[in-house]
Amino acid sequence: MAAATLKCCAPWRLVQLSLVRSSVPNLSFRTAASPMMGATVEEFEQAKSRMSTLKNDPGNEVKLKIYALFKQSTQGPCNIPKPGMLDFVNKVKWDAWKSLGPISQEEARQQYCDLIGSLVTAEGGSSAQVAAEPAGSAAMYETLLVTTEDDITTIKLNRPAKKNAITTEMYNEIIAALEQAAKDDSVITVLTGAGDFYCSGNDLSNFTKIPEAGVEEMARKAGVLLSNYVKAYIDFPKPLVAVVNGPAVGIAVTLLGLFDLVYATERATFHTPFSQLGQSAEGCSSYTFPKIMGPAKASEMLLFNKKLTAAQACELGLVTEVFPDSSFQLEAWTRLKAYAKLPRNSLALSKQLIRSVEKERLHTVNDAEVERLIERWTSEECFNAVMSFFQAKAKL
Ligand code: COA
Repeated sequence: MAAATLKCCAPWRLVQLSLVRSSVPNLSFRTAASPMMGATVEEFEQAKSRMSTLKNDPGNEVKLKIYALFKQSTQGPCNIPKPGMLDFVNKVKWDAWKSLGPISQEEARQQYCDLIGSLVTAEGGSSAQVAAEPAGSAAMYETLLVTTEDDITTIKLNRPAKKNAITTEMYNEIIAALEQAAKDDSVITVLTGAGDFYCSGNDLSNFTKIPEAGVEEMARKAGVLLSNYVKAYIDFPKPLVAVVNGPAVGIAVTLLGLFDLVYATERATFHTPFSQLGQSAEGCSSYTFPKIMGPAKASEMLLFNKKLTAAQACELGLVTEVFPDSSFQLEAWTRLKAYAKLPRNSLALSKQLIRSVEKERLHTVNDAEVERLIERWTSEECFNAVMSFFQAKAKL
């Protein structure tokens, strides 16, 4: 996927864990001392769109610079607390932003525009080129990397430092990315994770942000969000594939019953610790899991928190195929690229036929699961479990 078009990704999410020097030569951008006029907001918006047309990875040093200029342009000088030493990724990003000092937002916008212009020119494009994406399709995601290549749209969860735990913002972004993928020209849509985890499920800090209106209001809002999130999978009109690149927890596992193909590395594990957390099943798993693996095995997972290996999950029918970790990406993507050459409409219509048989039932199951969870989220059992998780982390 190295040559994928960076289509809808936010620049600050392109920063990877390891920092390497930029491979793009002769990039010049003006310094803080440069006495020129600042770029307009419109020019800045254009530069953001052009950023999404870049084909080559400019390297982490440049990506950090882009991140810092973006933050300075939109929020002014760095005003957030310095992350801890061990929060490596956020620390380097903070350093980059802080290093811009007090330069004005106008000046930062100008430097941002100049830098993107240099990158476009370095790729052989015109520095005056306008957005290649049609208006409206250059959405920016903070928590995802979304690319389209070889007729495959890939939605990559991109919070590797938090094991791709799903925040409220990320739920909303995935819903938006799925809506966009449903409409685009791609044949297949893939969900995968950045880093060593596929996804560690719901970000438990979502439960710690209690609004003034109280815990019931938080639970009600979370219920609406969860309901919409699961709906986006039930109603997704094209083949949907999970490329499970590492361990999966909670909703990242339960939703697999709504995918059309699930490829997993042998390193993946599948864990739904709902009762441990004082919660209950979601993602339609109270229906799909017993159907896929039989009630006894489903209960072992959904009630008693049994963690499955990739091989066990495959044996039970939750996973389509398991690949050795060393060749996982190559084998899975080779397979998917071949599948994406199949006739688009035939694939989509066949998927819709299969789904239509039980679509209504899935919506009913989703509603019932969400209703139960809204009650669970306000329970003492859930509160205590979430507190224990963070207390255990604090003691480490
Ligand atoms: N919610 C919030 N934060 C999470 C998270 C989650 N679901 N999963 C991971 N994180 C955070 C950790 O708190 C940690 O943050 P820190 O670096 O600021 O301390 C960071 O991600 C890395 O996780 P860590 O626990 O250090 O990695 P690990 O490899 O030892 O363990 C998990 C990974 C996923 C097994 C462990 O973090 C975990 O059990 N998370 C909770 C999973 C869960 O219960 N999800 C909800 C299911 S309904």
